[in-house]
Amino acid sequence: MCYAIPGKVEKIEKNTVIVDYFGEKRKALNELAQVKVGDYIYAQGGFVVSKISPSEAESILEVWKETFFHLQEVDLKLSRLHLGDKNTDRGLLEILDKASQSKELNRDELLYLLELKDQAGLELLFKTANFLRQKYHKNSCCVHGIIEISNYCIQKCHYCGISYHNKELQRYRMTKDEILKSAQVAVQEYGFKSLVLQSGEDPGYSADELADIIKEIKEKFPSLIFVSFGEVGIGGLEKLYQAGARGLLMRFESSNPKIYRDLHPGQNLESRLMHLRQAYKMGYLIITGGLIGIPGQGKEDILNDIFLAKELHAEMFSFGPFIPHPHTPLAGVKPAQVEEVIKVLAVARIIDNTQAKILVTTALETLSSEAAKSALLAGANSLMLNVTPLAYRQFYSIYPNRAHQSEDIAVQIESTVSLLRSLGRAPTDLETI
Ligand code: 5AD
Repeated sequence: MCYAIPGKVEKIEKNTVIVDYFGEKRKALNELAQVKVGDYIYAQGGFVVSKISPSEAESILEVWKETFFHLQEVDLKLSRLHLGDKNTDRGLLEILDKASQSKELNRDELLYLLELKDQAGLELLFKTANFLRQKYHKNSCCVHGIIEISNYCIQKCHYCGISYHNKELQRYRMTKDEILKSAQVAVQEYGFKSLVLQSGEDPGYSADELADIIKEIKEKFPSLIFVSFGEVGIGGLEKLYQAGARGLLMRFESSNPKIYRDLHPGQNLESRLMHLRQAYKMGYLIITGGLIGIPGQGKEDILNDIFLAKELHAEMFSFGPFIPHPHTPLAGVKPAQVEEVIKVLAVARIIDNTQAKILVTTALETLSSEAAKSALLAGANSLMLNVTPLAYRQFYSIYPNRAHQSEDIAVQIESTVSLLRSLGRAPTDLETI
């Protein structure tokens, strides 16, 4: 099983290649030396990640050919939009009608959507977001694999189960060989083209050591690599980029400086935003977003969060529910509700029709096993599977009972593929041109 479809290089203009996927043309940046017109390649997040032999590509494409168009039809059917039931609130219909034409909504209109409670209204909001997702992103859904390389952390974030204050937690730090082995399994055995390497803020690895690991993964197991090691400093980001990392996953958690300060003793929002802004300038793809349902957060804050993610040029939005962890200062706070989170994803899709992918977070899946499907039908178009070795996974307990905590990669892949197929989604990951 692979998570991207091979494409044929049609044209090369400097470092940009035009790739053909069953007649659809897409664009990607190429950093590989030996790519020429007529080659088959895999691309992710707008980057060519590897070359593939014509015979292998052609046999994969043969299998995909029928499926590709069939999936598009299924998706199109599921994303049709009918606004205009006479029992529905007129004000809501006007807002959604405007949104469905990609007209910009004002703050009051967006807040109205975030305040929605009524079930019929919510369903229309979700359908509108799904319609926009289909219109601009087609049926592509990107699937990244995440390897949680260490749960050591020096930060004291109030919500997080692996933060420094949790003295009950057994800590682990994967060795370089273990990390390489996990990357090998993910890329070579399971066909992942895109990996996220994540840890707490762990001084146990230096930036040079991390860079060394990334370099070796890039050489041996070609893939698009996102780093998510917290605030490694601008020098650190540069080293990791030089080594071959091309994405940064770093949430700003909350755009409200007071909430940020209250939740992150000793840290400040400015420093986090500075990392995100500098990373973008360096050429990193940005995945960012915030926590939904944290104490003191109102709908205005959530709206600001979505606008901030957009301003930071997020190539993917990552907004997920807060889930209390028993060994943290927020143990007694209620978790966010599934519908509230999906509402945020839908509004994010309305705010950013064209650019950002929207991630279904594992935290959302943890709240309900149906949530991934609902989110994919409300504007989301991206998933992350956990490829951390099973022996360590349970210790990366940012919140309790994480979805897929004890599921083998093969099992996660099987259920993901069957979910995506039922919704007409294909695991491609490039912009249409
Ligand atoms: N609930 C939900 N998400 C959490 N994270 C940390 N703790 C929790 C929690 N209790 C998220 C943070 C962080 C990401 C790695 O995990 O948003 O950015």
